[in-house]
Amino acid sequence: MQDKPLRFTGRVGLVTGAASGLGRDAALALAAEGARLVLFDRDAARLAETAARCEGSQAVAGDVTRAADMDRAAAALDALGPATLLVTAAGTLGPTRPLPEVTEAEFDQVFDVNVKGTWLALKALLPRMAAAGGGAVVTIASGSGIVGNAVFPTYSASKGAVVLMTRSVAVGHAMQGIRANTVCPGQIETPMLRGVFEQLGDRAAGVEAMFRAKNPSARFGEVQEVTAAVLFLLSDAASYINGVALPIDGGRLA
Ligand SMILES: NC(=O)c1ccc[n+]([C@@H]2O[C@H](COP(=O)([O-])OP(=O)(O)OC[C@H]3O[C@@H](n4cnc5c(N)ncnc54)[C@H](O)[C@@H]3O)[C@@H](O)[C@H]2O)c1
Repeated sequence: MQDKPLRFTGRVGLVTGAASGLGRDAALALAAEGARLVLFDRDAARLAETAARCEGSQAVAGDVTRAADMDRAAAALDALGPATLLVTAAGTLGPTRPLPEVTEAEFDQVFDVNVKGTWLALKALLPRMAAAGGGAVVTIASGSGIVGNAVFPTYSASKGAVVLMTRSVAVGHAMQGIRANTVCPGQIETPMLRGVFEQLGDRAAGVEAMFRAKNPSARFGEVQEVTAAVLFLLSDAASYINGVALPIDGGRLA
């Protein structure tokens, strides 16, 4: 039987949030298909575990909200070769309270990680992709970036910003050979999702039941179901797909 051809041999790129959940799984899958990656996360210990499983890749521990940390990631990328791939998975949920009850510090934290962190990664990668003759970006937004969310409204607002930042890259950088798409997962089984339920305390069982009841597939997604879409959108098979915000949610937003 012939082996499946690798889609990313010789490609170099950055994955943020690579220590856990969706970012880790995307990194493992990209590396398995030949990409050499800079893996970025603030959780140095778990990042090292990911890096140990990604041949030819390098871990850079840092905070996506800090330009100086992103500069270190960019320098590591330059050492690997011309960068043409970007996945932004670092994200934070923030408070599960109505907007009037959110503190200024909490609001700033959510927007710093989800919006500024995505912007800093784009700011580092887009000029490098343009210099390389093109590239592909997949940001990880959320279904809550498409429709409002009463349980975590600050997060929802920040993910809406990620969707339109990505679409702005799609329309602004297409002529440089760069495609930018965003995936909008529903509830996916990761440490972040479990954190939601922990944070909700007494309300957790009711919210989990509500999430499941509203989903036509009546289940949460698995990380591999998001990774498959991320790799497709990064790959040459998606060469004419640009600016899409793709729900991956079992039909929740249908
Ligand atoms: N799990 C879901 O149900 C779900 C649904 C929709 C969207 N998302 C989004 O997918 C992305 C990945 O989420 P996940 O579920 O894999 O969560 P996760 O908590 O498993 O992983 C998130 C990673 O981001 C890193 N991170 C957070 N803040 C950072 C910072 N300031 N600097 C560097 N790294 C930082 C964390 O250390 C962690 O490794 C997030 O953007 C999240 O909002 C998740």
